[in-house]
Amino acid sequence: MSETVAVIGAGLVGSLMTLGLAHRGYNVTLIDMRPDPRKTSNKSEKNLRSINLAVSDRGIRALEFVDKEMSERVLKDIIPMHGRMIHTLDGKQESQIYGLFGEHINSIDRGKLNEHLLDEIDLFNENSENSNKIQCIFNHKVAGLSFNTSFAKIKLINGDDKDNDNEIEKNFDFIIGADGSYSNIRYQIQKYIRMNYQQEYIDKCYLELYIPPGENGSFLIDPNHLHIWPRKEFMLIALANEDGSFTSTFFGPWKLTETLNKRELIEPFFNDNFPDAVKLIGMDNIVRVFKENPKGALMQVTCNKYNYSDKAIIIGDASHSMVPFYGQGMNCGFEDVRVLLQLLDKSTTREVAFDSYTESRHEDLKAILKLAIDNYNEMSTKVISSAYLFRKTLDSLLGKLLPKYWIPLYTMVSFRGDIPYSECIRREKRQQTILKIVETSLIGMCAIAGWWKYRKST
Ligand SMILES: Cc1cc2nc3c(=O)[nH]c(=O)nc-3n(C[C@H](O)[C@H](O)[C@H](O)COP(=O)(O)OP(=O)(O)OC[C@H]3O[C@@H](n4cnc5c(N)ncnc54)[C@H](O)[C@@H]3O)c2cc1C
Ligand SMILES: *[C@@H]1O[C@H](CO)[C@@H](O)[C@H](O)[C@H]1NC(C)=O
Ligand SMILES: *[C@@H]1O[C@H](CO)[C@@H](O)[C@H](O)[C@H]1NC(C)=O
Ligand SMILES: *[C@@H]1O[C@H](CO)[C@@H](O)[C@H](O)[C@H]1NC(C)=O
Ligand SMILES: *[C@@H]1O[C@H](CO)[C@@H](O)[C@H](O)[C@H]1NC(C)=O
Ligand SMILES: *[C@@H]1O[C@H](CO)[C@@H](O)[C@H](O)[C@H]1NC(C)=O
Repeated sequence: MSETVAVIGAGLVGSLMTLGLAHRGYNVTLIDMRPDPRKTSNKSEKNLRSINLAVSDRGIRALEFVDKEMSERVLKDIIPMHGRMIHTLDGKQESQIYGLFGEHINSIDRGKLNEHLLDEIDLFNENSENSNKIQCIFNHKVAGLSFNTSFAKIKLINGDDKDNDNEIEKNFDFIIGADGSYSNIRYQIQKYIRMNYQQEYIDKCYLELYIPPGENGSFLIDPNHLHIWPRKEFMLIALANEDGSFTSTFFGPWKLTETLNKRELIEPFFNDNFPDAVKLIGMDNIVRVFKENPKGALMQVTCNKYNYSDKAIIIGDASHSMVPFYGQGMNCGFEDVRVLLQLLDKSTTREVAFDSYTESRHEDLKAILKLAIDNYNEMSTKVISSAYLFRKTLDSLLGKLLPKYWIPLYTMVSFRGDIPYSECIRREKRQQTILKIVETSLIGMCAIAGWWKYRKST
């Protein structure tokens, strides 16, 4: 009999993990407290969660690692984004290309990607020749976790059972927690191991806005860019959807955003800071969203260790929640899946795999959390500074001239999943030191040339 495993959380990361384990012959049960998103008719709930994401190399690599054909199917609707489009205050648009050799990130609807992955689970169940089918249990919340030497035991509560008095207990050889930022599995594991844990809110919240399609479903701004209105303390971004619309997100400090609660205040704020975006979104819509929609909090979670013996391990947002400014949360969670599956493939026992995962993954997770937080400043402020643009030009030039030795940070993080996050930071440190020297010598050379010219002319 094959080993039984429960994956808790049918979000993006849990669904991919389920497929990866099923391909390896495990008997997988996927559990989520929410109803199957493909069967919920509640449109308002769906729309509230209609975030779109940037999927890049790390995410795609992991999808392909699990199943190449599956990856092609679930990614068929992506929209390539070749660079940032900076919207300046005076309404100009400036393109800053991401890749040196035509690489791009991709816009995808989070809800749709999740549904595609769940469809793939059904497809696996229909096609699979082996008897290890995947079981999905929706609408059931994991409320407790305990262990004995042979099993991880979880307590499930049926979502329809309002009194919580009908707990079901299920035993598995091991479990994987992919239950998101507010992970209950993480909390349960903390009772058994000495887990370092830190949770920190940043002083920014977000609100989603919507840019409708133009006539005949045309795009009102270029779909192949990630649009940014950088205004330092706050900013607006927009990513394209297939139907010609854009999902736009406002990020700003809590205090400012909360004071924008009346039309008299919202109107002048948007007219002053985002005049061209007002034309795209419509003032009435902006006012409605700021007055009515809940504001999203942004936080980071880090922890260490990630496993309890060979019985339980956490991955995805459950083990590392990051701020969204590098577009890596899901990509990193997918990478967790690839790394863990590869370790399971090559290790003699699951114990060895869990142990090496916990040992080796932490440094990389710490690195991407730091990169994500630092990138707010880059997106909201630096992209319009001429010193930054000068350095970026040099950086790209060196990257093109010496592709083997010089790789800009953005390229390493987004397009080079073969370079671990922590290695990206180490290489970037070295490169920045060299860049400073090059810059200083260039400035020095200009000064000398200027002086020479001046001496000759006098
Ligand atoms: C504004 C914003 C923009 C973002 N942009 C990007 C981007 O561009 N690129 C990118 O890669 N990432 C991005 N992210 C991050 C990305 O959305 C997350 O990293 C990703 O969704 C995490 O997936 P997950 O499966 O780990 O967790 P989740 O998607 O949170 O899924 C967890 C699941 O577990 C279930 N669950 C929770 N508790 C229990 C329980 N006790 N019992 C049973 N089930 C339970 C939940 O119902 C849920 O379905 C962004 C995030 C935000 C907020
Ligand atoms: C739909 O979802 C919203 C948001 O979660 C909730 O407030 C509302 O009650 C739900 N409606 C129904 C009919 O379930
Ligand atoms: C898979 O495990 C479940 C219990 O978790 C069990 O009911 C089912 O029979 C198992 N299926 C196979 C094919 O082993
Ligand atoms: C662990 O729990 C299972 C199920 O409750 C039980 O059958 C088994 O005997 C227990 N094993 C040990 C070693 O206690
Ligand atoms: C939209 O489509 C109609 C009918 O095909 C066409 O007549 C019209 O010119 C189109 N409008 C634009 C802006 O392309
Ligand atoms: C993680 O798993 C390994 C292998 O089972 C074990 O040696 C290690 O102690 C576990 N970590 C914790 C904190 O339980």
